[in-house]
Amino acid sequence: MKKMRVGIIGAGNISDIYLLSPSKFDNIEIAGIADLLSSKAEEKAEKYGVPHYPDVASLLEDPSIEVILNLTIPSAHAEITLMALDHGKHVYSEKPLATSFEDGKEIISKAKRLNLRIGVAPDTILGAGIQTALKLIEDGEIGSIVGAKAFMMGSGPESWHPNPAFFYESGAGPLFDMGPYYLSSLLVLLGPIDCVTGIAQTTYRERTIKSAERAGETFPVTTPTHVEGLMHFKSNVTASITATFDIHQSKLPFIEVYGSKGTIHVPDPNFFGGPVTYLTTGHEGWQEAELVSDLTGNERGAGLSNMIASIYTNEQHYCHGELGLHVLESMEKLLESSVQRTFLPLETTFSIGDSSNSA
Ligand SMILES: NC(=O)c1ccc[n+]([C@@H]2O[C@H](COP(=O)([O-])OP(=O)(O)OC[C@H]3O[C@@H](n4cnc5c(N)ncnc54)[C@H](O)[C@@H]3O)[C@@H](O)[C@H]2O)c1
Repeated sequence: MKKMRVGIIGAGNISDIYLLSPSKFDNIEIAGIADLLSSKAEEKAEKYGVPHYPDVASLLEDPSIEVILNLTIPSAHAEITLMALDHGKHVYSEKPLATSFEDGKEIISKAKRLNLRIGVAPDTILGAGIQTALKLIEDGEIGSIVGAKAFMMGSGPESWHPNPAFFYESGAGPLFDMGPYYLSSLLVLLGPIDCVTGIAQTTYRERTIKSAERAGETFPVTTPTHVEGLMHFKSNVTASITATFDIHQSKLPFIEVYGSKGTIHVPDPNFFGGPVTYLTTGHEGWQEAELVSDLTGNERGAGLSNMIASIYTNEQHYCHGELGLHVLESMEKLLESSVQRTFLPLETTFSIGDSSNSA
């Protein structure tokens, strides 16, 4: 398969799985890695046997690099992505696309103007779990769709992440950090959203790091951490999402989709695999669906690989920028509607499987 040279910016926690992606996806070649802190890039470069660049600018200036993989923290996503576009590179970014809808729109319009691609995580939507649920819906197994519910229930990443403060800044929180998995999945399953409303609260103003080295350190919370959202879709179905870092445990499902003939229990959208179970009239009890693919492990890199392949075939890639922008707009408007105490219509839309090569 025709490879593309990929430069990674951001040598943190998630970079490891992407640095392993060439062993799974043969069109990805890691050309090198850079970070704001050059020692971090050096450390990963040594561990994975790839070159490192002394700074972000020198990686961006390397003309042999065609794609930038943006693995920086959310507040740096827009700046790095826009710089990469200015250097003539396609970009695949970790979620979210940006931390503001304004920045997201600038990224997509610039990419279109320059005829460059934007890919946005999560690529778990390509995984066997979400794709099997989609096939059940498309095959009419649960009849016409009534609605869906999504629950991102947790106590926050400070229990395991070494540098958790960024999760509690504007542009993160449970909705912007984890919401993209749930919302991207709902969008794949139900199509574009028409309008949203939400109620958001910040339950705790300070959090404490619990993981190893910095255990006991506290940091401030500047974004909502407990969010209830309602979404009306253009397909005339309704869904809700709860996204929280403020609870202990829950037995609620990750996502369920309800139809006139049954229900699909969708697996954790943060992962690629199953099981996908469903209930239909005429069958007693829950059945486990046969997974449509073997993309079931930690397959991060699948979206980047699909984008590279689509650049060569001039087709639309799956985890595309307009999908990421629609997710970003819906998250921002969910929080904004909570402040305004109203419903807010969305101005963006998207399609999947379009033959155009849009950003
Ligand atoms: N950690 C996970 O399990 C996980 C899973 C899925 C997605 N993500 C996403 O991946 C991204 C990175 O998360 P992480 O957990 O690796 O964070 P991290 O804090 O471990 O690493 C981020 C890296 O980006 C670097 N950086 C920050 N600003 C920069 C800039 N302007 N220029 C260059 N480098 C810069 C930091 O120095 C750091 O090394 C986030 O968007 C996150 O939402 C993380």
